[in-house]
Amino acid sequence: MSHFLITAGPTREALDPVRFISNRSTGKMGFALAEAAAAAGHQVTLIAGPVTLATPTGVKRIDIESARDLLAAVERELPIADIYISSAAIADWRPETYSETKLKKAEMDGVIRLVRNPDVLKTILPLKGDRLFVGFAAETGNPTQEATRKLRDKGLDFIVANDVTAPGAGFAVDTNQVTLLFPNGTSETLPLMSKRDVAEIIIQRIVSLQAKR
Ligand code: CTP
Repeated sequence: MSHFLITAGPTREALDPVRFISNRSTGKMGFALAEAAAAAGHQVTLIAGPVTLATPTGVKRIDIESARDLLAAVERELPIADIYISSAAIADWRPETYSETKLKKAEMDGVIRLVRNPDVLKTILPLKGDRLFVGFAAETGNPTQEATRKLRDKGLDFIVANDVTAPGAGFAVDTNQVTLLFPNGTSETLPLMSKRDVAEIIIQRIVSLQAKR
């Protein structure tokens, strides 16, 4: 049995105690992966952004808020993991400054300066060792070209690509339609199915890749 480290959900990048920048991720795909891996008998650590989902049975959950919190949690948990699945929708940018007190409209000029967040997968790539790394690429429109770039760029064993604008795919729905892309150029397109079934297939593919090593 393996130890899966899975990230899920959005991150929140705070401007002040009441405001933040975030995205539409609900964490459903990542939680389905955690549930499927645990149900298959694996150990699972789930690093979750702010979502409203219940923790799947047998899963150790760590709640985080920002991309930088997520990176710190991943760096802490990675040494004991055999597999890292990056399904979180990590904000690429955060506000440059954080105000400890609520910003007043009179203090603002209509411009929020943003700075880049770390790319978590790229940051931990030197720690990969013989672990399997799996990423996600949520695109608008045909995802193959962008997903292939990310697969190579981030040193992944495979990437799960989907068009978040396609019917039955994307955020807040219980179904997904994905294509798995592998470094040798092969791909596997799955039909529209529940996120739980997609998750089960992803876990199976990971387990068989591990067995071939
Ligand atoms: N990812 C990450 N760290 C980030 C952003 C994304 O580790 N700061 C991971 C995601 O969890 C996902 C993969 O990288 O597994 C691709 O994420 P995506 O947002 O599609 O890619 P980006 O690298 O942000 O590329 P772009 O903005 O050019 O689409």
